[in-house]
Amino acid sequence: MSDTAKIVIGGAAHDLPIVVGTEGDRAVDITKLRVTTGHVTLDEGYANTGSCRSAITFVDGEKGILRYRGIPIEQLAMNSTFVETCWLLIYGRLPTQEQLKTWSGLFTRYEMIHEGLYKHFDGFPPTGHPMAILSAMINAGSCYEPDMMEMESDTTFQVAAARLISKIRTIAAASYKASIGQPIVYPKPHLDYCSNFLHMMFSLPYRDYEPDPDSVAALQMILILHADHEQNCSSSTVRMVASSGANMFASCAAGVCALWGRLHGGANAAVVEMLQQLHDQRVDLKEYVTLVKGKESPVRLMGFGHRVYKQYDPRATILKEVADRLLGRLKRPDPLLEIAKRLEDVALNDPYFIERRLYPNVDFYSGVILRAMGIPVNMFTVMFAMGRMPGWIANWKEVHNGAIALYRPRQVYVGEPERRYVPIHERSAAGESGRESGR
Ligand code: SDX
Repeated sequence: MSDTAKIVIGGAAHDLPIVVGTEGDRAVDITKLRVTTGHVTLDEGYANTGSCRSAITFVDGEKGILRYRGIPIEQLAMNSTFVETCWLLIYGRLPTQEQLKTWSGLFTRYEMIHEGLYKHFDGFPPTGHPMAILSAMINAGSCYEPDMMEMESDTTFQVAAARLISKIRTIAAASYKASIGQPIVYPKPHLDYCSNFLHMMFSLPYRDYEPDPDSVAALQMILILHADHEQNCSSSTVRMVASSGANMFASCAAGVCALWGRLHGGANAAVVEMLQQLHDQRVDLKEYVTLVKGKESPVRLMGFGHRVYKQYDPRATILKEVADRLLGRLKRPDPLLEIAKRLEDVALNDPYFIERRLYPNVDFYSGVILRAMGIPVNMFTVMFAMGRMPGWIANWKEVHNGAIALYRPRQVYVGEPERRYVPIHERSAAGESGRESGR
């Protein structure tokens, strides 16, 4: 296949280089397009646009492949821990025992948040959305760690990364405790990442919550599966903010905001709300799918479809098994899981979904698992953010350490042609008239 693409504009032909990735993914390099042709490209939603070269995660949406630094997600889910996966994503290889011990020790050392930060929770109303609080508290946390802002040294970067991944857990749990009027529970140094989070979420001053191993294992799996996913909306946001030279905390706080949207990370909560409504109102699933397919229908089958996966999301396959296993072990059957399975079956046998290659994505089953652990629905996307933090940090690092310039896309202007300023006494109630235009 040729290593250049030819574009003909106004009779003039221009050769554009083809960039080929590790797995044979191909891109037309348009870096010189505007300066040679006076044209930019237009790709609303960026479905056809590569924003960067990245070595962190590989996704093949046609084949349902996901690899972190070359390692298949199935193998990581089976063998790794979230703390180890964080190191892999950020540093590009699996840690040695010594590296993992040091890295894990940093998580323990920095699991507390500054006492001054705890006071912020008194200012949030109990109804404050956990994602708003999380984003605010990440930036607030950086105010207590000014030395973490200028990460010139690898050591400073490593400490900052460990601090952020460790503390997001403490902030999330404290936010939950404050919202339900319970005293905040401090982390315990002898607990691992996931057990410590569940301890901070569910322990009480007079009774420690003993995290059951099945919930800890399920949480570990959820965090590993959510840890990165190439240039998704929130990771691209982190890169965009990082490209201005913004520090890691500010960039990741922006990632939290992008993840919040219901088309992205907010979908896991939307799925459970959809399943709950189907359950409570005893909705016929075939009728619901018919509603979803309606041309003018604003209703989407949440947790289904994906910009990249035109195959079953490999993460959904694993999460479906985790949901079955956890609910079985906890002896906590959930009618929502049964509804989800039946809904999947109806959709995957429906031509609308088959033709559009719409399959369950990572959000379709994750909520049922979080629900079984007792995590409130409005915290589901916070759990997604906790998992995605290492991926955001790895992307921040790739931009910060690379020679990548400021991200500043161009546009096609479709607004008003030039016109003059109209003094207010000349403006009519019906708006501006032709005579006011500059034409
Ligand atoms: C995540 O990018 C990532 O990697 C994200 C993520 C990650 O790990 O970071 O994987 C996490 O965000 C997963 C996605 C979670 N969102 C949802 O589950 C929300 C429901 N899904 C859809 O809104 C949708 O599928 C998107 C937003 C995820 C993707 O949409 P696209 O790629 O823009 O596709 P589209 O909207 O152009 O849809 C193509 C067609 C349309 O129908 P037609 O106009 O061709 O008739 O498919 C239809 C859509 O109406 N369609 C759906 C549908 N998703 C797409 N119809 C019903 N239900 C759906 N869920």
